[in-house]
Amino acid sequence: MTSCQARLETGLSRWLPPAATHPTALHQAMRYAVLGGGKRIRPTLVYASGQAVGSDREQLDDPACAIELIHAYSLVHDDLPAMDDDDLRRGRPSCHKAFGEAIAILAGDALQTLGFYVITHNHSACDSATRLRMIEMLALAAGSRGMVGGQTIDLAAAGCQLEIAELEDMHIHKTGALIRASVMLGALTRPGLAEETLEKLDHYAKCVGLAFQIRDDILDVEGETDTLGKRSGADQSLEKSTYAALIGLDGAKQRANELHEEAMDSLSGLDERADLLRWISLYIIERDR
Ligand code: IPE
Ligand code: IPE
Ligand code: MG
Ligand code: MG
Ligand code: MG
Repeated sequence: MTSCQARLETGLSRWLPPAATHPTALHQAMRYAVLGGGKRIRPTLVYASGQAVGSDREQLDDPACAIELIHAYSLVHDDLPAMDDDDLRRGRPSCHKAFGEAIAILAGDALQTLGFYVITHNHSACDSATRLRMIEMLALAAGSRGMVGGQTIDLAAAGCQLEIAELEDMHIHKTGALIRASVMLGALTRPGLAEETLEKLDHYAKCVGLAFQIRDDILDVEGETDTLGKRSGADQSLEKSTYAALIGLDGAKQRANELHEEAMDSLSGLDERADLLRWISLYIIERDR
C-alpha cells in the first residue's frame, strides 16, 4: 500500500499544474485540495484490483490519479456552505475556507476535468478502446446516475426518515459508485478478462463501497475530529440520514461486517494476488477502531 501511495503522490503532483501557473489562485487551490492528505483508498483499490488481475503498476498509475482527482473535487464541493458547510478537511481548513467559495467551486470543476484528461493521456500501455471504456465508466460513476446523483439524494434526505433500502440506495450512489469505478478501472487494464472474474470484482466493489460509507457514518459519531481530520458529529448537526441514525451504531457495525464477509466471499477463487483487495476490505471496516 505504501508503495502504491508513493507512486500516486508522484503522479498527482506531476499532473496538477504548478502552483505558479497562471491563474495562480486556482492552481494553488487545486494542489491544496489534492496533495498532502487523504487515505487514498480509491487509487489503492485501482492498484489492488489491477494487481489481482495481473496488470503492471505502470498501467495503473494514470487511472489511479484520475479517480483521486475526481474524488478530491467531490470533497471540495461537499464541504461548500451550500452543501455540508464543513470548515475542516484532511486536518486543514476546507478549500473554500482557504481560498474562498468561488475559487473552491472552480478548483473542483477543474479537478474533475483534469481527471478525464489524465485518462485520455494515459501513456501506460492501455489501448484507446480500453481508455474509452475507462472514460465511460468514470463519467457514469461520477455523474447524475452515480456520485452527483447520490449527493443530491443526500441533501434532499436531510431531516427525513428514510427506509433502509432508500438509505442504501443513497450510499451506493454517493460513495459506492466511485469505489466501484476504482475497482473496475483496475480490472479494465487487463482486456479480455473472464466475465466471471469481472463479476466477482464488481460484487466485491459494491460491498466495499457500501461498507465504506457505513463506516464513515459510524466514525462521524464515534471518531474524534483530530484523528478524522474533519469535524465529527457533522451528520447529526445537519440531521443527515445515516446508517447510525436509522439503525443505531451496533446495527451499522453489524451491517458493515456482513458486507466485509460478502466481499471476501466474492473474491473466493482469486489467488493471493487479490490479497491487497482482501486487506482493503478489512481496513475499511476496522479503520480508526
Ligand atoms: C470521504 O472519503 C467522503 C466519503 C465518500 C465518505 P474518504 O474517507 O476516502 O476521504 P479521504 O480521501 O481519506 O480524505
Ligand atoms: C460525501 O459523504 C460523499 C461524497 C461524494 C464526497 P459525506 O458528506 O459523508 O463525506 P464527509 O463525511 O464529509 O467526508
Ligand atoms: Mg456530504
Ligand atoms: Mg460531508
Ligand atoms: Mg461523512
